[in-house]
Amino acid sequence: MTVAGRVLISEQDIRRRVAEMGAQISADYPQGPLYLIGILKGSCFFLADLARAISTPVRIDFIGISSYGKNNTTSGEVKLTKDLDLSIEGCDVLVVEDIVDSGVTLNYLSHLLAQRKPRSMRIAALLDKPSRRQRAVEVKYSGFRIPDEFVVGYGLDYAEDYRALPDVRVLDGL
Ligand code: PRP
Repeated sequence: MTVAGRVLISEQDIRRRVAEMGAQISADYPQGPLYLIGILKGSCFFLADLARAISTPVRIDFIGISSYGKNNTTSGEVKLTKDLDLSIEGCDVLVVEDIVDSGVTLNYLSHLLAQRKPRSMRIAALLDKPSRRQRAVEVKYSGFRIPDEFVVGYGLDYAEDYRALPDVRVLDGL
């Protein structure tokens, strides 16, 4: 497969920003364990790098979500496809996401996870497209604000391709 698209955020810029985010999170959570919850599948690379940039002890879990009608997000229909393995009751939780777009996924998840009575819960997202927001989401740790363009790489896919690119690229013409 030929590598497509133009680079929006370079590997070096991602590395630098993830290190900054990790330092900030470490300062905000001096005591562990901090429960990092990755949303499958897009967050896997960000979670792996962020976890290693956090000096506080972390525990790692994953949750799977599928949303219907991605191009018609006003429906806001979301389904849980894989639940957490760990209990988060009484724990400090950081939900780790690659991108916040309409906000449907994180809005749903925030409500779902809050019912499990964590001690605290915040969101870290590498990319944020605020212009697309349809549901309110409070992103405490945000890596980059990006324009409304279709991006792939560093976990983000187009029809399951491009996730393993080391940078974030724009696929024009989609
Ligand atoms: C993408 C992305 C977020 C969500 C953001 O996931 O990884 O989880 O969409 O969009 P939203 O803010 O509009 O809800 P996707 O459903 O494409 O699954 P994937 O992570 O497995 O690629």
